[in-house]
Amino acid sequence: MYNIAVIPGDGIGKEVMEATINVLESLDIDFNFTYGEAGDECKENNGEALPDETIELAKNSDACLFGAAGETAADVIVRLRQELKLFTNLRPVKTYPNTNALFEDIDFMIVRENTEGMYIAKEEEYTEEGAIARRIITDKAERRIIDYAFQYAKNNNKSKVTGVHKANVLKITDGLFKEIFYEVAEEYKDEIDAEDFYVDATAIYLITRPKSFEVIVTTNLFGDILSDEGAGLVGGLGMIPSGNIGEDNALFEPVHGSAPDIAGQGIANPFAMMLSACMMLNYLGEYEAEERLNSAILNVLNEAKTLTPDLGGSSSTMEVTEAVKKAL
Ligand code: NAI
Ligand code: MG
Repeated sequence: MYNIAVIPGDGIGKEVMEATINVLESLDIDFNFTYGEAGDECKENNGEALPDETIELAKNSDACLFGAAGETAADVIVRLRQELKLFTNLRPVKTYPNTNALFEDIDFMIVRENTEGMYIAKEEEYTEEGAIARRIITDKAERRIIDYAFQYAKNNNKSKVTGVHKANVLKITDGLFKEIFYEVAEEYKDEIDAEDFYVDATAIYLITRPKSFEVIVTTNLFGDILSDEGAGLVGGLGMIPSGNIGEDNALFEPVHGSAPDIAGQGIANPFAMMLSACMMLNYLGEYEAEERLNSAILNVLNEAKTLTPDLGGSSSTMEVTEAVKKAL
């Protein structure tokens, strides 16, 4: 049995979560879902956006599913990533049929460092001239994320890992990143090729030759920006899942937010949340179920009869959910 912490959050977070749990319950896997509160509504009701009970629930779970929070998103998801020490942020960039993808057949993974870099948010007081922010790169965290990327490549039949940095300008911090990248690459050289690019060059290559990428590994801020560029390549927020993985815990969430503009209408696209659940199944080692759910989603997309409005259809979240269950 798997203990799954379920944190629906606000707005369409709740709607896509309900849809996804509904689908997971029809998979013949013994899940024990326990619900936790977090987000704007939780703050209104309890005075805090992320109560300790929810953190404990997530810590004691085999995996955690998170929908989306509203204005309190940073207090909830950034804090959860820190509390659960989720050092890896996995952002697949993959084309699905009948979406607004700019290219066909894109399929690569962005492995983003999730704990340091520019996002330690150590911005110092304003100085006379302006303000200063610190960027931290440690051997430990970068080696861990780079090794994760090579392991990921190895386990998923990928042949190449691309390290992305700006070592020509940030000679010390990104110089270290690049050095570690090639040290780790050396350990995998019989199986996996390694290359490195500057982040600005990568930004254009993602558009001019996106199919040349298999696995990208990079520091926190660059990973954040490139993964949104990746989302743009494959057609919008309703399709993009993500995984946050640490040594003892993991949390899976769609990249989108609580979408107040469509919340309550029952028309949110549940695929980003369902694909996040696919990533959870992979993490739990339930590869067959992952494949089944992924194929069911693909079937519904290929048929293009039951799609939500963001994909050009006119179906509701629950109609899409029923279609996925039927395809299963
Ligand atoms: P958003 O992702 O909620 O929405 C952006 C646009 O995409 C909206 O037009 C929305 O309708 C559409 N959209 C997003 N997901 C969709 C889906 N599954 N199906 C159909 N359409 C979808 O981002 P926005 O508007 O910038 O933020 C809204 C709220 O969400 C804010 O309060 C923000 O703080 C929060 N937020 C939370 C995140 C999280 O919990 N991880 C991430 C991003 C934003
Ligand atoms: Mg982002």
